[in-house]
Amino acid sequence: MYLSFKLSVRFTKRVYLLTLKRYFCGNLKETMETNKTFTMIKPDAVANGHIGAILDHIIKGGFKITAMKYLWLTPEKAGQFYAVHSARPFYNDLVTFMSSGPIVAAILEKDNAVEDFRKLIGATDPAKAEPGTIRNLFAKSIDANAVHGSDSDENAQIEGNFYFSAFEKF
Ligand code: CMP
Repeated sequence: MYLSFKLSVRFTKRVYLLTLKRYFCGNLKETMETNKTFTMIKPDAVANGHIGAILDHIIKGGFKITAMKYLWLTPEKAGQFYAVHSARPFYNDLVTFMSSGPIVAAILEKDNAVEDFRKLIGATDPAKAEPGTIRNLFAKSIDANAVHGSDSDENAQIEGNFYFSAFEKF
């Protein structure tokens, strides 16, 4: 009798804990995507005619394009996008450069998207980028470095939402 009471308490406790886990972990998964990243093909690469070649690299790298647009940022919009760097000495040059010509903005999907995309594009400074990476192939300097890639899942979500509404993401 006592044993069956103890087993029943243990069972109830287990069901309760599993329900809590499913509730909280389920919600976490819904709010933070880990298979998306955000990119921009920057004004230098667009002006040099590299949009097609860069998209080809991205697709051959296993990424699916789930949103994409071609646009020209105002200095105000470029400043907002890079606000996180506003205290850095390169901020004003970065804003001027990013509003100097059209860009392509896109959301990309793949398992482990943020990390894999940063590998595909190479180091921020193209002089240090591995051979075969997008920046090694198409970029000329740390300012004109051909592409942007998000540095975390959280920033990928923020940056994607900066450019795309719910109706523009597939
Ligand atoms: P991006 O990945 O778009 O993020 C911020 C950008 O600032 C970076 O690429 C570079 O193009 C630019 N930048 C210019 N100077 C520097 C620097 N010294 N360190 C990091 N980023 C820099």
